[in-house]
This record gives sequence, structure tokens and C-alpha cells, in this order.
Amino acid sequence: MHSLLRGKHFITTQDWTKEELDMLLDLSHDLKRKFALREMTPYLLYQTLFMIFFEQSTRTRNSFEAGMTQLGGHAHDLTEDKLQLSHGEAGKDTAKVLSRYGHGISIRNCFFDIGNKYLREVAKHSHIPVLSMQDDLYHPCQAMADLMTIQEKFSRDIKGRKVVISWAYATTHMKPLSVPQSQILLFPRYGMDVTLAHPPEIGLMPEIVDQAKANAEAAGTKFEIVHDMDDAFKDADVIIAKAWGAHMATRDPEESLEIGGKYVDWICDSRRMKLANKDAIYMHALPADRNKEVTDEVIDGPQSVVFDEAENRLHTCKALMALTMGGRP
Ligand code: CP
Repeated sequence: MHSLLRGKHFITTQDWTKEELDMLLDLSHDLKRKFALREMTPYLLYQTLFMIFFEQSTRTRNSFEAGMTQLGGHAHDLTEDKLQLSHGEAGKDTAKVLSRYGHGISIRNCFFDIGNKYLREVAKHSHIPVLSMQDDLYHPCQAMADLMTIQEKFSRDIKGRKVVISWAYATTHMKPLSVPQSQILLFPRYGMDVTLAHPPEIGLMPEIVDQAKANAEAAGTKFEIVHDMDDAFKDADVIIAKAWGAHMATRDPEESLEIGGKYVDWICDSRRMKLANKDAIYMHALPADRNKEVTDEVIDGPQSVVFDEAENRLHTCKALMALTMGGRP
């Protein structure tokens, strides 16, 4: 174990060793306790984070900005139109300039086949850590908050737990693949058995699924793919049911909606929750498409932990910033 995470980019958990992720998780639990006790945590006094959003956000924007304030620093809330990005400034130029002004750059860019490449380009030219706030491939901050929540709900006894990551029907927008892809990559590394469930045409990226299988094999855990939501739920400890777009079949949002429309019955409801274990928890990264992805009864019910999960976005994000930022520009 080493503590030299300062300056390290965080674009996917795959780039971090398990020991490094363990350190992030341990600090997240510690920061949560300190937040509850109203203890000061001025680990990033007078430091600046530049947050660049290409898309909307509630949890990510506010956990990063509140987190920076609570660590004693400040976050700039930036969008394309507030920067010369809207006039085509290259990512590498933005990276070099912001590196001279502050201590971290965080980016959300979920455009398919663009987002991750943009983050990698900025990271290549940045002298300060680049932290993903979600791209087209990965949402590592969400996956870490989810892992922390599962640890809490099962008193850290998570090895051998069955986690179901299921597609669910929604009409809101063509959601990225990044949340389920980050979850299937991370959970096997922590000893959990993963069941990925989706209609045949609405799969994840094959290279990411292969990597998740390799992670499972290395950790000695089970990884399966099923195309029946009921089958998936049987004997599960954790149910994560949310929509993602049919990105593997089409780039057209209307066509994606049409494909998803064949599977309106893929909803997480109380009948399906009864197929899972009695003490199973229901999770969702939010925002949820209520009564399409999940019934009100389930998301507002006793098995739902979605608001604890959302809260843990704050603690994990503070831990991430405290560990990686802090170097001098
Ligand atoms: N779960 C998540 O990333 O939420 P936001 O899109 O609101 O940030």
C-alpha cells in the first residue's frame, strides 16, 4: 500500500489498483463520520477545482462543488458556453491553461465515442489530476459510491453477494452506458457475483464486458448475462435496475426509444423484488424514470437505499479530491 495518489487521474477504476481503491473507500467512510460530527476537514485549503460540464447534473455537480467547499477550497462551475470550448478550443490547450491556475480538473462529457477520448486528451496534457464526472464509457464516482453503500448495508460482508445490474425501461433520454459498465467492472474486484440482465439488443460494449469477465475470473467470482429480468432477480442481494440506451444497435435516440419500447415490462416492481432475497436492497444512481424503470412503491419502499447511495456520492468524491489534489500547479 502506498499513499502517493496525489496527481493521479481518475477516469476509470480500472486504472487504479485495488489497494488504491481501498484507500479511497476507507477515507470515504472516515469523511462520512466526520461530516456527521460536523468536524472540519480542511484538506484542500484555498485550492481550486475546475468542473467542466457538457451535460446536466444534480448529484455530481453538487457533490463536487459542496465537497470542495467542505474541504476548504472552491469549485468553478463551468460549461461549454462559459469557456472557449464553444469556439472550438482544443482540449490540450484548456488542460495546459487550467493546470497553471488551480489544482484539479473534473469533466462530464458523455457524448458517445467522444467523451472518454476528450477526458484522456485533457489528462495527457494536464499537470493536475483529471477526475471523471462521467463519460460515455465510465462513471467511476458513481460506482465507488455504490460500492460504499453496499459495504454499509451489509456491514462490509459483501463477498459472494449476488448483484443484479439490470436494464429497465425508460423514456427520458438515451442514457449512457457508463453506470452499468463501471459497476460490472468494479464489483467483481470486491468479491461480488454479478448478473447482468438486458434484452438481447440492448447490451453493453463487448470489450468492457470481456474486461468485467476477466476481473471476475481473477477474483474467483461469478459473472453471467441473462435476458430475462425475473430470472436475474432470483436470490439476489442487490438489485440495480436502470435504463441505458441501445448504443450498440443505433446512434439515433428515436430508434433507441423504439427498441426499448419493445420491453416496457422491464420494470422493477414489488412482484420482482419478492423474487430477490428477503433483505435485498434496491439501488439506482438517479435520476429515476419513476413508474417506468421502477414503481414508486419500490423506490420509496423499505428496500430502497437510493438516497443513502446519493449521499455517498459526496463522501466518495471528497475522498477522491483529498487524495488526488493538493499538488502545486
Ligand atoms: N447519478 C448521477 O450522476 O446523477 P447526476 O446526473 O444528477 O449527476
